[in-house]
Amino acid sequence: MNFADSEIVNSILLEDGMTVAKDAESADVILVNTCSIRENAETKVWNRLKEFRSLKKTNSELTVGVLGCMAERIKDKIIEEEHLVDIVVGPDAYRDIPRLLAEVEDGRKAVNVLLSLEETYADIAPVRTTGNGVSSFVSIMRGCDNMCSFCVVPFTRGRERSRPLESILKEIRQLSDEGYKEVTLLGQNVNSYKDGENTFTTLMDAASMINPEIRFRFSSPHPKDFPDDLLHLIAERPNLCNYIHIPAQAGSDSMLERMRRPYTREQYLSLVQKMREIIPGVSLSTDIIAGFCGETEEEHYGTMSLMKEVGYDLAYMFAYSERERTLAYRKFEDDVPEDIKKRRLSEIISQQMNIQKKRNLTEVGKHHLVLVEGTSKRSDEQMSGRTDTNKIVVFDRMDFEKGDYVEVEITDTTSATLIARPIRKTTITEYYGAAVEA
Ligand code: 5AD
Ligand code: SF4
Repeated sequence: MNFADSEIVNSILLEDGMTVAKDAESADVILVNTCSIRENAETKVWNRLKEFRSLKKTNSELTVGVLGCMAERIKDKIIEEEHLVDIVVGPDAYRDIPRLLAEVEDGRKAVNVLLSLEETYADIAPVRTTGNGVSSFVSIMRGCDNMCSFCVVPFTRGRERSRPLESILKEIRQLSDEGYKEVTLLGQNVNSYKDGENTFTTLMDAASMINPEIRFRFSSPHPKDFPDDLLHLIAERPNLCNYIHIPAQAGSDSMLERMRRPYTREQYLSLVQKMREIIPGVSLSTDIIAGFCGETEEEHYGTMSLMKEVGYDLAYMFAYSERERTLAYRKFEDDVPEDIKKRRLSEIISQQMNIQKKRNLTEVGKHHLVLVEGTSKRSDEQMSGRTDTNKIVVFDRMDFEKGDYVEVEITDTTSATLIARPIRKTTITEYYGAAVEA
């Protein structure tokens, strides 16, 4: 989400006549887009700001700004105590950055952390200066009304609002004209997307028709109300990826209730079963929190057993990190000792690594359509890309290029990466057309 927001800020700054500096040392303005989701995300930002303090010492003209989720929470601390930052801009105030920058020219500080009920930056065409030119994010909504008890997002990003359908489709058409091959639709809670009669399913339907050679992903839906019609649409459209990120957070009813996640373990498991029935071979990933308030050993094993029962292809696993203003902060105690949180998280991670290794072994011998994203990090002689099911694959470079769709046969695996033999360059239409006929 921040990556997509930075592209909107790029657009606002370039429009205002600024240009991109080649590095921090030669910049007049440095803006840090921040995340508050967990303590360590904030710690990273503080460390970064301290690095910039030395640049401020050698360049008294340098303006440093903090954008995004940390803005509201720590605006007073940032400006008054630390002398690290000149401007603070909340996630709904990016249009105001040029004015704020002008305001600090005479050494004052400037702040705008107002949240909005309407702002979606719908009319701003993001400027994509840092992506790979193949995959891109498109933001479809902002904010979140779900109020999970552990989560600070509703407080930092404000109320949920959807971007007009037509502005989303326009952005995708533009990406298609620029040669992009993969679009990930983004929102804190995509299945509550709404624009008049349009739902997330009608949006996916319209988006996928723009160009059959662009594949689509989305992040993240909520398990409480995942629509059946979307599952059918994914099953029938070759360019809607057979991959769903469906955050469970925990595996026991008592814990889900404390987390204010309005579903039971049983309901979650039947959703997973339905996904697998309607989309055979769908790959699933999740978010999991270890050591939330009051977590008992039994609840921890509830989470472990849910993860085992589902057998996720991928999981993002975190130790609980208390966030001010959340319901958990106000009502519960962050009472799982740090060493127990760590132990539980590492049990969860090591079980997941084993599951992934086993799942990936079943891929050996199978064919996949891979979208090439670039050369592999390890070797220039290898290309790297992802399957429709979101698994990373590396294979010999030959004469394949970034943006090609390549049919591969998986020959070997680790828990994180598949290794493959490339077969031929192809297209989505040709590959799945042939697969359907076969
Ligand atoms: N502590 C740990 N993890 C958290 N997440 C959200 N809030 C917290 C928190 N306070 C995780 C959730 C969410 C993901 C984006 O971050 O798992 O799905
Ligand atoms: Fe946070 Fe829950 Fe909203 Fe996700 S759905 S952003 S976890 S409040």
